Amino acid sequence: MMAARRLTTTFATLALISMIGCAPSEGAVTAPTHGGSASGGGAAASPGAPLERSGTDGAPGIGDPAFPLDGNGGYDVGHYTLKLSYDPASKLLAGSAQIQATAVQNLSRFDLDLHGFTVSQVTVGGSEARFAREGDELVVTAPKMIVKNAPFTVTVHYSGVPDPVRNSSNLGTYGFIPTPDGSFVTSEPDGAKTWFPSNDHPSNKATYDFEITVPQGVTAIANGEQTAPPKTSGGKTTFVWREKHPMASYLATMTTGKFDVRTGTSPGGIPVYAATDPKFRDALDTLYTKTAEITDYWATVFGPYPFSSTGGVIDDFNAGYALENQTKPLYGGFTPDAGIIAHELAHQWFGDSVSVKRWQDLWLNEGFATYAEWLWSEHTGGATAEQMFRNAYANKTSAMWTYAPGKARSEDLFNDAVYTRGALALHALRQKIGDTAFFTLLKKWTATYKYGNATTNQFIAMAEQTSGKNLGPLFDAWLYQPTRPTLG
Ligand code: TRP
Ligand code: ZN
Repeated sequence: MMAARRLTTTFATLALISMIGCAPSEGAVTAPTHGGSASGGGAAASPGAPLERSGTDGAPGIGDPAFPLDGNGGYDVGHYTLKLSYDPASKLLAGSAQIQATAVQNLSRFDLDLHGFTVSQVTVGGSEARFAREGDELVVTAPKMIVKNAPFTVTVHYSGVPDPVRNSSNLGTYGFIPTPDGSFVTSEPDGAKTWFPSNDHPSNKATYDFEITVPQGVTAIANGEQTAPPKTSGGKTTFVWREKHPMASYLATMTTGKFDVRTGTSPGGIPVYAATDPKFRDALDTLYTKTAEITDYWATVFGPYPFSSTGGVIDDFNAGYALENQTKPLYGGFTPDAGIIAHELAHQWFGDSVSVKRWQDLWLNEGFATYAEWLWSEHTGGATAEQMFRNAYANKTSAMWTYAPGKARSEDLFNDAVYTRGALALHALRQKIGDTAFFTLLKKWTATYKYGNATTNQFIAMAEQTSGKNLGPLFDAWLYQPTRPTLG
């Protein structure tokens, strides 16, 4: 089934409109119990019960019931060093990924997620390791068993033409997408594996170093900040970037191509990096200014900005959507209005700094970012959040009432319910607990789970604790029932 993702500009709302016609079903994912329990449902390193492999073999998935083969068991990655060269003409991506990890069990064999490419060599602790390919799993046999809690380093040398994930239900094409002048890299939910071997699940966040070599004249843009000026020799330029704050694999990017760049510092003191494809040169100054202004504003509403720089990139790849790549949202083939910039920048707090532990809880990202659009509208004299709420609630026949946003489903992950009904849930909460408790809660949430992972149950627990109210029935109606809630 093919789904359309499109942008609606009414009230500056970014909407992902699902064309999936399936009736809702409970699926394999069950509703968590609520009522004040802060349980995340699972062991600390894993979002659920991982698929088993025997003895000292790491599981092929990290334990997300909706995405059973995403991520891997047996280890936790702390840092990636990606040294990659990309040639837009041949579309050849080549280089190495060095992965610093810690074993969480005795480990003699483990997987990395990798889609496509020819792997020429794998080393573990500097010694050559045997490896095999099984679908999108790169199975590595350690030269000798790694004991539980021991740190280890894996290096994978690989090359090939990236093959992004295509047509998977309403997810469209994602991952490393070659463009005429470079690459457009947006990997949510599990497209990191289309450009580097990884533990490709948001429950294993890590820091990143990027060393990206491209033909002279091409700019390579990754997350975080440049740690040295670009170096050119022999017709090639190498860009080095570092993201020093933990990042989910789907938020990593190496967007390359011809770009005009503007850098500076926001009025509030946050470094800003904005870049536009030549086709969008006219939008560079607005992108820069709005990004700076909105980042500063969100810092007053959501708490201190969690990263070391903010920014945005407009590429000419006609995706029609944007992704909240950490520190640098990427806009695909359109000039974003302030509402969409507000959405992507709100994700820096909700999704990027505080990340989901399992995809079922995606409303914690999209519901909050959509609600942020409503807050931005209200802040700038447009429709108020209350008006946005009433407007969306009035649509009795909307398909979002049949989809429970607290149970986002792998085959329809980005359903409009996860966005709009998720935002409605937040506004219903605000109505119930009042502005003071609501905005205190938002700041407490971003501070408590900064750089980490969280679940819906943890949000419910914090909301109850902050407000002193029993909110079980409210969240149950707004997040877990396939019906339109009644207004209390
Ligand atoms: N998270 C994005 C947003 O709401 C939308 C999105 C979902 C996306 N999957 C994607 C964007 C894959 C790019 C690629 O802004
Ligand atoms: Zn979003």
